[in-house]
Amino acid sequence: MYSSDFLVIGSGLASLVFALRAADEGPVTIVTKRQPFDGNTGYAQGGIAAPLGGDADFESHVQDTLSAGAGLCDEAAVRSILADGPAAVARLDAAGVPFSRDGDGSFALGREGGHTHRRILHVKDHTGRAIQEQLLSAVRAHPRIQLLADHCAVDLIVEGREESDVEKRRCVGAYVLDSRSRKIEPYGARVTFLATGGTGKVYRYTSNSDIATGDGIAMAYRAGCRVQNLEFVQFHPTCLYHPDAKDFLISEAVRGEGAFLTTLEGDRLEIPHPMGDLAPRDIVARAIDRAMKRQGARSVLLHMEELGASRVRERFPTIYETCLRYAIDITREPIPVVPAAHYQCGGVLTDLAGRTDLRGLLAAGEVSCTGLHGANRLASNSLLEATVMGARAATTAIEVRGEVGAVPELEPWDSGSAELPRETVLIDAHWDLVRTMMWEFVGIVRTDHRLGLAARYLEIFRNSIEAYYWDFVLDQDLIELRNLALVAELIIQSARARKESRGLHYNEDHPETDAVALPTVVSPLEPAQAAVGAPGNGSHRA
Ligand code: FAD
Ligand code: SIN
Repeated sequence: MYSSDFLVIGSGLASLVFALRAADEGPVTIVTKRQPFDGNTGYAQGGIAAPLGGDADFESHVQDTLSAGAGLCDEAAVRSILADGPAAVARLDAAGVPFSRDGDGSFALGREGGHTHRRILHVKDHTGRAIQEQLLSAVRAHPRIQLLADHCAVDLIVEGREESDVEKRRCVGAYVLDSRSRKIEPYGARVTFLATGGTGKVYRYTSNSDIATGDGIAMAYRAGCRVQNLEFVQFHPTCLYHPDAKDFLISEAVRGEGAFLTTLEGDRLEIPHPMGDLAPRDIVARAIDRAMKRQGARSVLLHMEELGASRVRERFPTIYETCLRYAIDITREPIPVVPAAHYQCGGVLTDLAGRTDLRGLLAAGEVSCTGLHGANRLASNSLLEATVMGARAATTAIEVRGEVGAVPELEPWDSGSAELPRETVLIDAHWDLVRTMMWEFVGIVRTDHRLGLAARYLEIFRNSIEAYYWDFVLDQDLIELRNLALVAELIIQSARARKESRGLHYNEDHPETDAVALPTVVSPLEPAQAAVGAPGNGSHRA
């Protein structure tokens, strides 16, 4: 049996920040299901938002976050996380992240949707990659951190799983598939840290990396943790529309520098918000959706031609070069763009120290729901949240390690009478079925009828996927498909429970917004459906 003090699942920003701090106190094992760079962190373009300009800037960042969150943010979480922003950014700077600077040496600050001021630090247009490079090299050099690529966590190991009271359960590690040897082994740990990222792959069109299949949400839910606000899936307004481009984003930062949207005919897009092209994402994505449906168009156009060729090449080199590979010269011609699933605002419910409902299990980053994002995340607040909460969770983990007993001897994985799949084509077909159905029925604009159909179809898909899961020898594809389908079901359940429209959740049958904003909580231990209004970030323990 493998064993360490701290088991970290994932190798994105939340993971790396956690690991570097926890390793000061004990051995850390990181398992990551593909290569260490694979994940949404490496895709982040726009930057990391932080209130660096004193009290007034802090207050306006708080207000912009609350306003984008459409009344559903937990204000205490917003204030607490943003207050740690300047120190978090200073740590990244000290770690060697080469943030872009103005001529006088101060940080160059960008702007994105929903921000009333410039406050986004960036490394040109490849901020996430630059941050991950620095932190990964520190992790690789650390003698107490073991980093295992191609290791996919299958499920959490829960002592006392038979207890109906989650307080009596304890997470003692995870079963992990080594994709090269195809063996599943128990990895024991006093503290397990979930940093598995988001859920974009639940949808047919997404800006996300292939890893974003919601594994952490699914594993935590199966282990007894509550999940919150999963109906709030953020669709980024501007992903490249090109038959050969899979998941390439055109950063909102380009609109922060003056780019704008038009229909295919060249008319400025009607965006019903005083901030126009820089309105929060839910509003811009719906405006694009409406314009495309009205005109039967497959995309709208994003214009950067007026920003100046040399400025575009210097500030947005990745976007420039990538579009050029698809024969689009963005200094001369507009970019065809469409909205795509981008960010999961909900997740595993945690407190502000990273604790989940389950003792021994902590979570941070996109997998978690702290209350910061509410019904719509403000742009560039997620790298900030992952940095702040990854560090806090490490501090909590060090405390928890001292409180819990040794890891018990763990049972080997039981593969029962599983066989090699006879028809892998069926597994591929179910991937497509779930993702297409979610895009068509649980997308930017929802109705009760479509959500009801989605629930019915998903029940059928889930039943067959569960049968494959138990009958066939597991590989990563099947593990991910099972998680994807469970997360899709939880999103639908949450969306059906919300009988109003708010932020990213727009239902034509309930277009009004309730006076009181309440979170949606789904508890695996109370199978009586999602409840809107159950306590939000209440009591937790690790
Ligand atoms: P990730 O970086 O996604 O890492 C998750 C890790 O978990 C990966 O290593 C993955 O392989 C691993 N993993 C998953 N499941 C398993 C499993 N079962 N077993 C083992 N390992 C597993 N946010 C901003 O604030 N600013 C931006 O400019 C910005 N731009 C973005 C641009 C794009 C195109 C995208 C997609 C997102 C962007 N975001 C941005 C959002 C932000 O990048 C993410 O929310 C953030 O990086 C998430 O970090 P994370 O550590 O939680 O997860
Ligand atoms: C972008 O650069 O437009 C993405 C920023 C984010 O998702 O926070």
